[in-house]
Amino acid sequence: MAEINSVTTLTREGDVAIITLNSPPVNALSAKVREGLYEGFKQANASDAKAIVLICEGRTFIAGADITEFGGAMAGPGLPDVQDMMENSPKPVIAAIHGTALGGGLEVALCAHYRVAVPSARVGLPEVALGLLPGAGGTQRLPRIVGVEAALDMVTSGRHVPAKQALAMGLVDELVEEGKLLEGALAFAKKAVAENKPLVKVRDNNAKLEAAKGHPEIFADFRKANARKFRGFLAPEYNIQCVEAAVNSGSFEEGLKAERKLFMELMMGPQSAAQRYYFFAERQAQKIPDVPDDTPVRPIKRVGILGAGTMGGGIAMNFLNTGIPVTIVEVQEAALERGLKVIRGNYERSRTAKPEETEARMALLSGSLDFDKLADCDLIIEAVFERMDIKKDVFARLDKIAKPGAILASNTSYLDIDEIASVTSRPQDVIGLHFFSPANVMKLLEVIRGEKTAKDVIATSMKLAKQIGKIAVLAGVCPGFIGNRMLSQRQREAQKLVMEGAMPWDIDRVLYDFGFPMGPFAMSDLAGLDIGWVKENSKGETIRDVLCEMDRRGQKTGAGYYDYDENRNAKPSPVTEKIINDFIVKSGANPRKISDEEILERCVYPMINEGAKILEEGKAIRPSDIDVVWINGYGWPVYRGGPMHYGDQVGPDKVLAKMKEFQTQMGDAFKPSALLEKLVAEGKKFSDLKA
Ligand code: 3HC
Ligand code: NAI
Repeated sequence: MAEINSVTTLTREGDVAIITLNSPPVNALSAKVREGLYEGFKQANASDAKAIVLICEGRTFIAGADITEFGGAMAGPGLPDVQDMMENSPKPVIAAIHGTALGGGLEVALCAHYRVAVPSARVGLPEVALGLLPGAGGTQRLPRIVGVEAALDMVTSGRHVPAKQALAMGLVDELVEEGKLLEGALAFAKKAVAENKPLVKVRDNNAKLEAAKGHPEIFADFRKANARKFRGFLAPEYNIQCVEAAVNSGSFEEGLKAERKLFMELMMGPQSAAQRYYFFAERQAQKIPDVPDDTPVRPIKRVGILGAGTMGGGIAMNFLNTGIPVTIVEVQEAALERGLKVIRGNYERSRTAKPEETEARMALLSGSLDFDKLADCDLIIEAVFERMDIKKDVFARLDKIAKPGAILASNTSYLDIDEIASVTSRPQDVIGLHFFSPANVMKLLEVIRGEKTAKDVIATSMKLAKQIGKIAVLAGVCPGFIGNRMLSQRQREAQKLVMEGAMPWDIDRVLYDFGFPMGPFAMSDLAGLDIGWVKENSKGETIRDVLCEMDRRGQKTGAGYYDYDENRNAKPSPVTEKIINDFIVKSGANPRKISDEEILERCVYPMINEGAKILEEGKAIRPSDIDVVWINGYGWPVYRGGPMHYGDQVGPDKVLAKMKEFQTQMGDAFKPSALLEKLVAEGKKFSDLKA
């Protein structure tokens, strides 16, 4: 066996040379891997071998370029050099794929003359998720195999295509038996030699591009159909332009040139920097310094849920989807029936669940009015009304019936987990599991660590989150934890701005243009203005009171802050405007014209400042955890990296200076956090902080 370098070997099996990569965890195309590939192919090309197989050790084929290298200088041979060496090889090159061939990994495989894969493999060009485009010929080769429409879908969605589908699309030439990839690839190589199969170069295959020539509507229609999804993002549009270039350029080389130029533009820009930052932030959030990876976890085989309302039902679905049986306990028969019906309805309406899957999931679900039915659950999640007295009552009862070692969790949005835990004899088993609404859809799970929460309870919760497809972030106990605590800052300022002369639609527009799916007032209209509003106690003291009293309770009543037509399209409302103006007159304030810039700074900088306070108090482990919360729970645009990353991009000094200016004008709601002051004094950024 010849060792090419520390991550590459070149071996022989009869007439076939085998290049094997072994660069954990995912065989990313680091300088070492590129060097190994380059040298490996150079030697194999020069040898008397009649065919070459490229295969990887470990969990996957090459999963892409090494993202940690981006933004810095690249050492070693470039990827195009490696690809040329493969594509121009005088003998058949076969890529043998298992795990995921992604990004640069698939682009390498597309320079082989043939590709074989095991059925469990997946292939894709997910660069768009990093704010990029496939920069190693992917946008030029892919449409030559799968056609323009399928290529547009793949590069702009980044989706991973399962091997069977990849075979049907022509991306893979043959499926080989699971677990027998090398044998299958060798057999294919020998057959290629015996049958003198042609050395297929994807780059030369222009038939599918020709078919799309003279059909600019393909691109126009695709852009139109996806305009909403792509709003604000640069990368999808750049990906489309590359596929367009594949069709319209005079040659493959020209198309490559266009791809290269657009790739570099994205790579150097702030959006990709933010999205790459986020990639690592999401993975980082799973690491808890004092709860190491090998912390034992408690088995969770049955879950109990208290409350079949908005949250209880959604939470239940997460576990049912993973095959974990759930028992829901309610206090009211009607609420239980309604809750179970909503769950069934959600499954029946879902486009992905087949009828038999709905039945299989519903069979795992049982409802009861009997508290004792929770006695054999390994995890019990409370989702009852947001009142401390009720939560305490529930936990005291749970303490009496839950089996030893059961995890007792609260879905509270704001309340003190330690106070809740204090009524039990087992505060070490109590934790907050804060799901977001709709709980069966939203990716975020805030895991709230109480003062006495045991480490294995934390480890179990983090692992379980992953199992049910959530992104978990650990937070400490404080009112509203990470997300809602910061949201309160924005809500307060939005309300104040309205009393100073900005209309709700002005504020919503600024935040929408920033990249949020909607602004706070549109959000209130969607959720219902009457959440927490009690008619009997309402005395017209706030704008919301008056709106609700007029039965303008949001979208559901056809009017709220906005007026809605029959298709729920929002229009600024003269009625709301008059109510606001009356309030301003009554308060004696002088309304003024408020700039978009001020609206944005007033809504966002106090959030960044609150994030700094959360870090200062140790309620979040690291700044990037806060960003993971905001991106997955509150619609912060990922291309802006989250509030703390945005703070770094604006500059902590600028944020601090504005906070001080606002503090002078409007008081201590804007008091800068000590951590922000310290960072600025030391010329540092949030990203300089260690966990
Ligand atoms: N570069 C560097 N590190 C990478 C990486 C990459 N491309 N892909 C994964 N990693 C690291 C992760 O950071 C993680 O490190 P950690 O253990 O220290 O946290 C480790 O590998 C394992 O990753 P995951 O935890 O994500 O493992 P999973 O098994 O859940 O998922 C995966 C594996 C599907 C490969 C997933 O890691 C993934 O999607 N990776 C990114 C794939 C990608 O985007 N490829 C395109 C890169 S850009 C490109 O190729 C440009 C080209 O066109 C020129
Ligand atoms: P909900 O009002 O829709 O449902 C609460 C349910 O709990 C009701 O069906 C009620 O009958 C039941 N219930 C009340 N006392 C009970 C008891 N002692 N035992 C069993 N069931 C009881 O409320 P929602 O919106 O589902 O909220 C539940 C919890 O989740 C609250 O703590 C809330 O703060 C939190 N939360 C809510 C979010 C939301 O967007 N609605 C988001 C995240 C958390």
